[in-house]
Amino acid sequence: MLNHQTPIIFSFNKENKLAQNITKKLDLEEGDWVYHLFPDQESYLRILTDVKDRDVFIFESLDRPNDKLLSLLFFAKAVKDLGARRVGLVAPYLCYLRQDAQFKIGEAVTSRYFAHIVSEYFDWLVTMDPHLHRYKNLNEIYTIPTLVLKSNQAISDWINANVKNPIIIGPDEESKQWAESIAGFTQSSCVLLEKIRKSDTEVSISLPKTVQFESYTPVLVDDIISTGHTMLKALEGLKALGVKNKVCVGIHAIFAGDAAEQLSKQGAVLVTCNTILHPSNGIDVSNIFADNLRRFFANLEIT
Ligand code: R5P
Repeated sequence: MLNHQTPIIFSFNKENKLAQNITKKLDLEEGDWVYHLFPDQESYLRILTDVKDRDVFIFESLDRPNDKLLSLLFFAKAVKDLGARRVGLVAPYLCYLRQDAQFKIGEAVTSRYFAHIVSEYFDWLVTMDPHLHRYKNLNEIYTIPTLVLKSNQAISDWINANVKNPIIIGPDEESKQWAESIAGFTQSSCVLLEKIRKSDTEVSISLPKTVQFESYTPVLVDDIISTGHTMLKALEGLKALGVKNKVCVGIHAIFAGDAAEQLSKQGAVLVTCNTILHPSNGIDVSNIFADNLRRFFANLEIT
């Protein structure tokens, strides 16, 4: 338990179970505010909790970020103006990391721009399993202290408890970091598939012919399920090989459009971590957040 000078949490979604669990485990004070949209769609914000000389943080997962960004920045600025000592951001899912290079002339490298904006408004950032591919760590683009948490132990515990004879499959090269680590924790074999992305919703995936997938329960592991096409194509490949039992594990349950419906039609078990609220959330990562935030706050000299 922390003392009375623990940070104040402002959880944008008060129903968010992950935020509720963290608040309880760390005995955090919950901040209160009023927010509404004027008829012309501009925002009204009033912070009701006294934040003077206090450390505060905003808890908000950053899926669908364009709808959330402006209110997030207004909030950060408002608590600073009211005298908060520091304002942090706990974003269990951190957006704008996949455009990590200019792939075609003229493209905006939005990962850098987003990191710049967040670094301007916040004093620190905590997230889980950000999509780091060409960047090796967040500090290549964020200029504030960052803490990156990993879900691999929680996912492995879930697999150990629920899946017999698993083989861990990463659907593309970028999933290697998660697939290999989870294979290690579950003492399973690991296979990486080859993916070619043709457009936002078009991917092709090829499975190696040398692996006897039907002798195992294949567990597909990816960091993000967005349109679901990566998982869908991998499931189709396994189905064509006659594999019956299949499991899909995603860390961040974005499920754009009808992705969840399409995936549920495949007859595979679908489970995600609760970094983004979704009915498929079967893996609770609140202990990982609470334990690491406790240490992180101590290092920030908050306690
Ligand atoms: C990209 O490399 C990520 O790791 C995921 O594979 C990707 O974001 C999944 O996207 P979708 O569900 O749209 O195929």
